[in-house]
Amino acid sequence: MATATFTRLRTQKIETLRENVEILRAAVFHTPKNAFHHADALAAFTDGALAIHAGRIAACGDYIAVRAQYPDAVVRDLRGGCILPGLIDTHIHFPQVRIIGGLGLELLEWLEELALPEESRLADTSRAKVVAREFVHGLVSHGTTSALVFGSHFTEATAELCDAAARKGVRLTAGLVLSDRLLRPELHQTPAAAYRDSKGLIERFHGVGRLRYAVTPRFAISASEAMLEVCQTLLREHPSLAFTTHMNESPAELAEVTRLFPWAGDYLAVYEKFDLIARDSVIAHNVHATDSELQRLAARKASVAHCPCSNAALGSGIFPMRRHLDAGVRFALGTDIGAGTGFGILKEAMTSYLMQRVAATPMTMSPAQMLWLATGAGAEALSMESEIGDFAPGKAADLVYLRPPQGSTLHTVMAHAEEDPPRMLAAVMSLAGQDSVGEVRVEGDVVYEGKP
Ligand code: GUN
Ligand code: ZN
Repeated sequence: MATATFTRLRTQKIETLRENVEILRAAVFHTPKNAFHHADALAAFTDGALAIHAGRIAACGDYIAVRAQYPDAVVRDLRGGCILPGLIDTHIHFPQVRIIGGLGLELLEWLEELALPEESRLADTSRAKVVAREFVHGLVSHGTTSALVFGSHFTEATAELCDAAARKGVRLTAGLVLSDRLLRPELHQTPAAAYRDSKGLIERFHGVGRLRYAVTPRFAISASEAMLEVCQTLLREHPSLAFTTHMNESPAELAEVTRLFPWAGDYLAVYEKFDLIARDSVIAHNVHATDSELQRLAARKASVAHCPCSNAALGSGIFPMRRHLDAGVRFALGTDIGAGTGFGILKEAMTSYLMQRVAATPMTMSPAQMLWLATGAGAEALSMESEIGDFAPGKAADLVYLRPPQGSTLHTVMAHAEEDPPRMLAAVMSLAGQDSVGEVRVEGDVVYEGKP
């Protein structure tokens, strides 16, 4: 081929690539590094830009620099708002959307009086289909692009959840919730049925599009040793599955675990006996952890889902964040609805900040640490850090564009915080709710658009 023709073709190819690049111009914040370990973790660009190509981040930085890199790209001017990486919820219950707001109860009472009766209603698959749509809408309309979700005790309801997430395009890791005692008869499966039905769902959904499967015993109280053995077998047969459950949430729960598993030295020992604790395990709450449990979780590189709104609403206790950090245990945020008070992961970050300020061993989190917990930490907990969690070039373009509504307090504060990026981010954490979510994307695909 003549050199001139080759050069022309090459130039055309580069031009096509550039043509397809889209630039979003707004304030941009992300934490490419763990903000608890690195003082310079926050990357903030008050007149910033994200260049997106084929669903991936092509560039992130100051608008002038990104524009110079892609002079022919289409630019969307979103100034006045800000862009964050898609939010990540590492603990949330699909069947509990409609019971958010059941205040005044302790965990075991709340389960008995509110959560379990509602979960029983998902035996009706047509109801489950509607709840699944409500649930997935709740996620994306709050800027959540990835979630680790407790499915239902019913196989078809759990399948409805996976189908709804796939239709919307959200990243979901979820599983059939397994229990064979002490809940209510209609929520119990035999270990054999749990194995069979979990296998069916794994074959149908694990690794399909943006879906992954998590082995999900509800908690040790409701799982016999035979059921925990089923969990162990599933994880052995499918090593790429995630594992999730509850642990060390309330004092009454702990007392019951001691009664049911007299051989176990502590709560974690129950799960350890069945090899359930590993890099892909996400354990919700861990409010009442012993030092030994923290050391063992760290050694296994397991993660904890920290759910501050739920911990406060149920009076479960204050998460020992300082002790998790000192022991080197990974943790990220979870909303834990319906015990939690809403789908907002930024609200969880803010509540965590408030509660840690007044904890017995107080901590003052920086805005960067709050953002890290809402994004990068979640990506690590879900073992997806090479794909999502920040705007490093090459990662998937999962993002939330927050546009403060006209007349809102956030609008006023952001307009006056441009000179101070951490302060602007703190204002976003304090004030941005569902009404501020303008657009949400997963791998560049728009999965939610807020009202203009
Ligand atoms: N422990 C067992 N089940 C649940 C649940 O649904 N919510 C919370 N917060 N804790 C649990
Ligand atoms: Zn929970």
